[in-house]
Amino acid sequence: MRQPRLLIPAGPTHEPIDAVRFLGNRSSGRLGVALADEAARRGWSVTLLLGPTPLRPSENGIELVKYRSCADLEARLGEQLHQHEILVMAAAVSDYRPVAGQADPFGKRRRDADRMTIEFERTPDLLAGCSARRKPGQMLVGFALEPRSRMLESAREKLERKGIDLIVANPLETMESETIDATLLATGEDEPIATTGCGIDKPAFAAWLLDRIEEAREANARKGGARRDAATA
Ligand code: CTP
Repeated sequence: MRQPRLLIPAGPTHEPIDAVRFLGNRSSGRLGVALADEAARRGWSVTLLLGPTPLRPSENGIELVKYRSCADLEARLGEQLHQHEILVMAAAVSDYRPVAGQADPFGKRRRDADRMTIEFERTPDLLAGCSARRKPGQMLVGFALEPRSRMLESAREKLERKGIDLIVANPLETMESETIDATLLATGEDEPIATTGCGIDKPAFAAWLLDRIEEAREANARKGGARRDAATA
């Protein structure tokens, strides 16, 4: 199979409250950058959509596109998705943002009132949006950081709700750890298809996940070939 084109959104989003303040999260983007570097080492063509983080990939040849907010990332995905065969959605997208009119992107809120209320609205589910307009043969991969006690059922529910091919479930308890303890679920498979078994560091996880994606692509290509053979028999 020819080397795939990979699109990786990574890092947090910053949802502006005013020109100096934002709603953000603690994602560093390290995992997505490790995935981009590993894919580039394999000769894949990689576009990294990178949120507000000082991290940068170390491999040459990675196309780097910066974004800041969920709306920015949504626009970048709209431009880029159709040019790639694989989307690995590693961005930590904010679930809420200030409703339009509450944020003042060019001004600065004063400290004059004793209390402040900001109304937030739910952000669109970007991964579900990508799934709704995917091309045949595109593979979509998501992440689910979940409490260990209900990790598999929550990840399975997200896999189905977002209409994606694979989801990487990670225990919430390992957040900000140096290592990753991942379980991979696939659409159409009742049981997890792979697990790292124990905590592995982010570069090792990146190699592990790209191996699993390659296997899944090969299996899909074989199924497609078998379907074509059956149709022409
Ligand atoms: N995601 C997305 N758009 C959002 C929120 C999340 O594309 N607005 C993506 C994430 O990048 C991740 C996957 O969906 O790959 C799961 O994200 P997660 O935050 O676990 O799920 P949510 O859909 O936000 O559900 P909840 O917060 O209720 O657990």
